[in-house]
Amino acid sequence: MKNVLVTGGAGFIGSNFVRFLLEKNQHVRIINLDALTYAGSLLNLAGVLDSARHIFVEANICDKDVIPNVLKKYDVDTIAHFAAETHVDRSILEPDPFFQTNVLGTLNLLESAKEFWAQKKMQGRFHHISTDEVYGSLAENELAFTESSTYFPRSPYSASKAASDHLVRAYFHTYNIHVTLTNCSNNYGAYQFVEKLIPFTILNALQGNSLPIYGDGKQIRDWLYVQDHCEAIYNVLERGSVGETYNIAGNNQICNLDLVQMICAMLDEFQPAQSSYASLITHVSDRFGHDRRYALDTTKIYNQLGWSPKYNIEAGLRETVQWYLQNPDWMQAAFSKMQSENWLEKNYQHRG
Ligand code: NAD
Ligand code: DAU
Repeated sequence: MKNVLVTGGAGFIGSNFVRFLLEKNQHVRIINLDALTYAGSLLNLAGVLDSARHIFVEANICDKDVIPNVLKKYDVDTIAHFAAETHVDRSILEPDPFFQTNVLGTLNLLESAKEFWAQKKMQGRFHHISTDEVYGSLAENELAFTESSTYFPRSPYSASKAASDHLVRAYFHTYNIHVTLTNCSNNYGAYQFVEKLIPFTILNALQGNSLPIYGDGKQIRDWLYVQDHCEAIYNVLERGSVGETYNIAGNNQICNLDLVQMICAMLDEFQPAQSSYASLITHVSDRFGHDRRYALDTTKIYNQLGWSPKYNIEAGLRETVQWYLQNPDWMQAAFSKMQSENWLEKNYQHRG
């Protein structure tokens, strides 16, 4: 691993990974390629943009001219592929960009890497970052998904991610491209765009707005602190077996309502208002096709690579809430972006 192409490195997890990798491995050079969609921002790369080992390229993974040129120019040997359209609610309102980026963009990366590594007569590594949502939804008492669970995606977002996973595996079986895949649960931490549940709740609470909970709020997610996720991906890049898939999770299953209440209690402690922030919680109409529960079995990555998460939800959430409180300028910039494209009207007005 010398010249690592990180796609989507100006987004939430990608920017955390760029920071993590630069610190963890002093021998790598990162080529960070990102289209800077609404979800990406150079503000997420504060402190690394001027590093001599970090090169930022503003480009789209679907671009058939740029991607081969970038691979060649920087002699890329490793790809960590994060770039994607990622918000389920957006995929319900407008699926098309999800299939452009997540499927066709991934195909373009795979094809470009195949050609470049064949010309160089070298074996590179293509690591694909995916999601627990490809496996579908679990009932409360069902066993967690393993790496061999059947795919059953139920939203346009998860269908597009499932398609990209299949493509990556197809390039391993058909062309012997050395791939690894990870499917992980809900991440949280610094630099997550404010449309997602945790930062959205913090933002609304601080603005004194209602805290919208879809449906009964009893949907269960497993929450993974982003630092733990970065470490797991690094382990897979270093020691994961080619062609293999690893589940990554925080082993913190909690329902949305309880999670939002936890955030409110932390805000009550760190920045008390006249009444508890929990009084702002409001139930609104549900997400279409809302998956009830996700849970992942992480035995494989623990047994094979010795990885397990360091953070429980209490510890990770405290750091996260404090980070957002300490970064009001970042919050304001993200909020302005959300407002400029009328996201609140598009996603919340009709929910009553
Ligand atoms: P994000 O939405 O915060 O960031 C995505 C980044 O990709 C942005 O910087 C955006 O500008 C960039 N991008 C989007 N389309 C692009 C394109 N066509 N070309 C180049 N760049 C493009 O996403 P995230 O939450 O950091 O997720 C990163 C990856 O992890 C995704 O593949 C996602 O499916 C996966 N994942 C995320 C979570 C989570 O909880 N956030 C959980 C499981 C898996
Ligand atoms: O499970 C992994 C997935 O986690 C990733 O693949 C996705 O990219 C990522 O966005 C995330 O998807 P979710 O749909 O679970 O995340 P989101 O933050 O949008 O919502 C979390 C839960 O909170 C979900 O059950 C919907 C609910 N929710 C969300 C919002 C934005 C609300 O109740 N109210 C809200 O306003």
